[in-house]
Amino acid sequence: MKNNNKEQQGKGAASYLKLFNAQIDLLNFFSHGLVFGIGLLIGITLTFFLKNLSFINFQIQQFSLSSNSLMKPPPSLSPSPPYSFNISLLTSNNQTKNKFQYFEGLVSNSRLRNDQTKPSSSNSSSIIKKRVMNFTRVGLREFLKPPMAMHDMSDEELLWRASMVPMVHKLPFKQTPKIAFMFLTKGPVLLAPLWQRFFKGNEGLYSMYVHSYPSFNETVPESSVFHGRNIPSQEVRWGENSMIEAERRLLANALVDFTNQRFVLLSESCIPLFNFSTIYTYLMNSTKTFVEAYDLPGEVGHGRYSPQMRPQIRLSQWRKGSQWFQIDRSLALQIVSDHQYFSVFKKYCKPSCYSDEHYLPTLVSIKFWKRNSNRTLTWVDWSRGGPHPSRYFRTDVTIEFFNKLRFGRSCEYNGRTTNICHLFARKFTPHALDRLLRFAPKIMQFN
Ligand SMILES: *[C@@H]1O[C@H](CO)[C@@H](O)[C@H](O)[C@H]1NC(C)=O
Ligand SMILES: *[C@@H]1O[C@H](CO)[C@@H](O)[C@H](O)[C@H]1NC(C)=O
Ligand SMILES: *[C@@H]1O[C@H](CO)[C@@H](O)[C@H](O)[C@H]1NC(C)=O
Ligand SMILES: *[C@@H]1O[C@H](CO)[C@@H](O)[C@H](O)[C@H]1NC(C)=O
Ligand SMILES: *[C@@H]1O[C@H](CO)[C@@H](O)[C@H](O)[C@H]1NC(C)=O
Ligand SMILES: *[C@@H]1O[C@H](CO)[C@@H](O)[C@H](O)[C@H]1NC(C)=O
Ligand SMILES: *[C@@H]1O[C@H](CO)[C@@H](O)[C@H](O)[C@H]1NC(C)=O
Ligand SMILES: *[C@@H]1O[C@H](CO)[C@@H](O)[C@H](O)[C@H]1NC(C)=O
Repeated sequence: MKNNNKEQQGKGAASYLKLFNAQIDLLNFFSHGLVFGIGLLIGITLTFFLKNLSFINFQIQQFSLSSNSLMKPPPSLSPSPPYSFNISLLTSNNQTKNKFQYFEGLVSNSRLRNDQTKPSSSNSSSIIKKRVMNFTRVGLREFLKPPMAMHDMSDEELLWRASMVPMVHKLPFKQTPKIAFMFLTKGPVLLAPLWQRFFKGNEGLYSMYVHSYPSFNETVPESSVFHGRNIPSQEVRWGENSMIEAERRLLANALVDFTNQRFVLLSESCIPLFNFSTIYTYLMNSTKTFVEAYDLPGEVGHGRYSPQMRPQIRLSQWRKGSQWFQIDRSLALQIVSDHQYFSVFKKYCKPSCYSDEHYLPTLVSIKFWKRNSNRTLTWVDWSRGGPHPSRYFRTDVTIEFFNKLRFGRSCEYNGRTTNICHLFARKFTPHALDRLLRFAPKIMQFN
C-alpha cells in the first residue's frame, strides 16, 4: 500500500513537472527568439554602420563574410613581434660585429584586430602604424670573413667546422684564391725575415698559420707578417700521432677560410726557392697534389707496418714519404674528415712507427692516388745518411748551391717534363739567415 501511494504521488508530481517544463520551454523559445532577433538587428546595424565608415574596404568585406561563422582574423593579421637575432661568427675578439640596425616602416596589423569590437573608435583612421624592425644583419660577406687565427674551438669542434663543404659549386661572389702557408714549429719561425721579404707585395694571395709548442709564449712583433697567426696548439712529439693531429689542426684552421685553395706544410727550417708569383702559379695551376709516397721494403719501410692494421691497411698498401706536403682544398677536406685510417694509426702506429712518415702517404695512396704526384715540392738532402737530413749553415749558402736546388733535377708537371721540381727546401739554420737575405732576393727575383 505504501508503495502504491508513493507511486501515485510520484506520478502526480511528474505530470505537474511536465506542465511546468512545457511552460519553461515556451519561455525559452520566446527568449531565444528575442536574443536571436536582437542579435540579427545588431548585426545588420553594425554592418551598415561599418559600411558607412569608409575604412579599408576589403578588410570590412572579410569581416562581414566571416561574421556568421566564428570570427577570427586571418593569420596574416596577427601582429608580428619585432624580431632580433644575433649570430656570433668565429671571431675570438669580443666585439659584436656588423650590428646594423634596420628601421623599416611596416604596416602593423595589430590595431585592426583590436578595432573589431569597437570600430567606432575615434582613432580608427590611424590604423597604419609604423613599426620598427630591429635585427642584426648577417650578410654573406660577414660569413666569408676569415676568423682570427686564435679561437676557442676544441679540436673536435674545429674539425667538424672545417669539414663543411657547400653543395652549390657556383660562387655567388668574386674570389681570389689564396695559398695557406702552414708552419709547424717548436717556437718562433726562425727564418721569418726571409719569409717576410718573400710575402711582401702579395697581400691577399696568401694566408699563414703557425702551430708552435703550447709553451711558446714569446710575442710576435706587430710589424711581422707572422703577428697574430698562431693557432691554438697542443703538445707535439716528433714521430708520434700528436704530429698528425697538429697537421690536421693546421689544415682545419686554414680550411675555415673559404678562399684558401692550396695548403703548404712547412717547418721552421724551410725556405722558399722561388719568388711568390712563381710558387703561386705553380701550385694553382697544378693538376696534381704533392704528397710524397713510395713503397720501401726493409726495416724503415715495411718494417714499421703492423699486421694488426689489417683489414683496413694491408702491407701492400703501406707507403712512406716526407711529411711536408702541398695539397689542394679537396684533399685537405678529406684529410681532416678521415676517421677510418687515422684511428688505425692511433691504435697501432706506436713508436718506432713514425706516423708522420706513413699516415698521409698511405692514406693518399689508398684513396686519392689518382690525383697525387707521389712527390713533394720540398727539397731535402738525405745523402749524408743517418736519421736526420743535412742541415745548412752560413757557408753553405752560395749562388751555385741555390741554383742546384732550384733547377738541379727533372720531373713531371702537368704531363710535361720540367726542371723545376722543388719550390721549398730544408733544413736551414738561423746561422744561414744573413747570407740568405743577401743572396735570395736577387736570385729569386723577389718583389
Ligand atoms: C643579442 O645580443 C644582445 C647583446 O649583444 C643581447 O642583449 C640580446 O639578448 C641578444 N639577442 C638574442 C636574440 O640573442
Ligand atoms: C666578452 O664580453 C662579456 C661581456 O659582454 C664578458 O662577460 C666576457 O668575459 C668577455 N669575454 C672575453 C673573452 O673577453
Ligand atoms: C590616437 O590615439 C593616441 C594614443 O593611442 C593618441 O595619442 C592620439 O591623440 C589619438 N588620435 C586621435 C585622432 O584621437
Ligand atoms: C634594437 O635592439 C637593441 C638591443 O638588441 C636595443 O639596444 C635598441 O634600443 C633597439 N632599437 C630600437 C629602435 O628598438
Ligand atoms: C714564458 O715562459 C717561460 C718559461 O717557459 C717563463 O719563464 C716566462 O716568464 C714566460 N713569459 C711570459 C711573458 O709569460
Ligand atoms: C696557368 O697557366 C696558364 C698557361 O698555361 C696561364 O695562362 C695562367 O695564368 C696560369 N694560372 C695562374 C693562376 O697563374
Ligand atoms: C702514385 O702511386 C700510386 C700507387 O701507390 C700509383 O698507382 C700512381 O700511378 C702513382 N702516380 C704517379 C703520378 O706516379
Ligand atoms: C718571379 O721570378 C720569375 C723568374 O723566376 C720572373 O720572371 C718574375 O718576373 C718574378 N716575379 C716578380 C713579381 O718579380
